[in-house]
Amino acid sequence: MRLQDRTAIVTGGASGIGKAIAMGFAAEGAHVIVADIIDNPLEGGAKTVDAILEAGGKATFRECDVMQSADLEAAVAEAISIAGRLDIMVNNAAARCPKPMHETTEEDWDRVVGVNAKGVFLGCRAAVQQMLTQDIRNEVRGRIVNLSSQHGMVRAPNAFAYGVGKSAVVYMTKQIAGDYAEHGIVCNAVAPGKILTGKTGAPIAPKAIEYSHARTPWPRLGKPSDVANAALFLASDEASYITGENLMVDGGWMAN
Ligand SMILES: NC(=O)c1ccc[n+]([C@@H]2O[C@H](COP(=O)([O-])OP(=O)(O)OC[C@H]3O[C@@H](n4cnc5c(N)ncnc54)[C@H](O)[C@@H]3O)[C@@H](O)[C@H]2O)c1
Repeated sequence: MRLQDRTAIVTGGASGIGKAIAMGFAAEGAHVIVADIIDNPLEGGAKTVDAILEAGGKATFRECDVMQSADLEAAVAEAISIAGRLDIMVNNAAARCPKPMHETTEEDWDRVVGVNAKGVFLGCRAAVQQMLTQDIRNEVRGRIVNLSSQHGMVRAPNAFAYGVGKSAVVYMTKQIAGDYAEHGIVCNAVAPGKILTGKTGAPIAPKAIEYSHARTPWPRLGKPSDVANAALFLASDEASYITGENLMVDGGWMAN
C-alpha cells in the first residue's frame, strides 16, 4: 500500500493510460479523483470509478475540462473535502490532431495545444497553489506527475500540434521542479512510447503499428500498466531526491 491515505487527481483518468494509473494508485491505497470530460472509457469497458470500487478501492468521478481553470480548482477542492490535502496530481489528459503543420488550423492548434500544454499548466498551477499551503510529510508537500511523450522530444510524424504541446510538458516539468523544490514540491514526467490502450482505428492502423515496431527495440509495444507502474513509482515515497525527471517508458524508442 505505497499510497495509503494519499489523495490523487488523475486528469483524463476515464480512459487508457489514465485509467491504468488511477486503478494502480487506488490499488496502493490512494483515494483517486478521476477528472475527465467523459466517464465512459474511449476504448470501452468498465468506468474507472466502478472498476476501482469493485476492487475495494476509493475513487470519485469529477467532470473536468483541463482547459478550464475553474474545473481544475474544483477538483482540487474536492480532494481537500475528502482528505484535507492533495498529495498527488497527475496531468494525463491529452488531445490529438493527426495533421502536418501546413494543414493544422488555428482551431486545431488552440484545442490540442490548449489541452496538452495549457491544461498541464492549469493542472500544475491548481496543484501547486494547494500544495504550498500543506504540511511537509516525509520531506514532501506534494507530488506532480505529468504525461509527456517521446513525440515532442523528437519529431511527431503527422502530429505537429500534439508534438508542440508535449514538448511544453517536458519544459514545464523541469521549471516547476526547479522553482518549487525549496517548498517540498516534487515534479516529474513520464514519457510513454507507443502504448496499446485497446483503442481501435487510427492508433492501431497497420502503418502506425509498423512504424512503432520499427522505432522500438523492445520486442513488444507498450501496455498502459507499463506507464502506470512508472507513474506509481514517481508518485510514491520510493522516488526520493528525484525531481525534474522525464522518465522514458518507451521500450528504448529514444535510445534507438
Ligand atoms: N497511448 C500512447 O501511445 C501514448 C504515447 C505517448 C504519450 N501518451 C500520453 O499519455 C497520456 C494518455 O494517453 P492515452 O493514449 O491513454 O490517451 P486517451 O486518448 O486514451 O485518453 C485521454 C483521456 O483524456 C481525456 N481528455 C481529453 N481532453 C480532455 C480535457 N479537455 N479535459 C479532461 N480530460 C480530457 C479523454 O476524455 C480521455 O479519457 C496522454 O497524455 C498522451 O499524450 C500516450
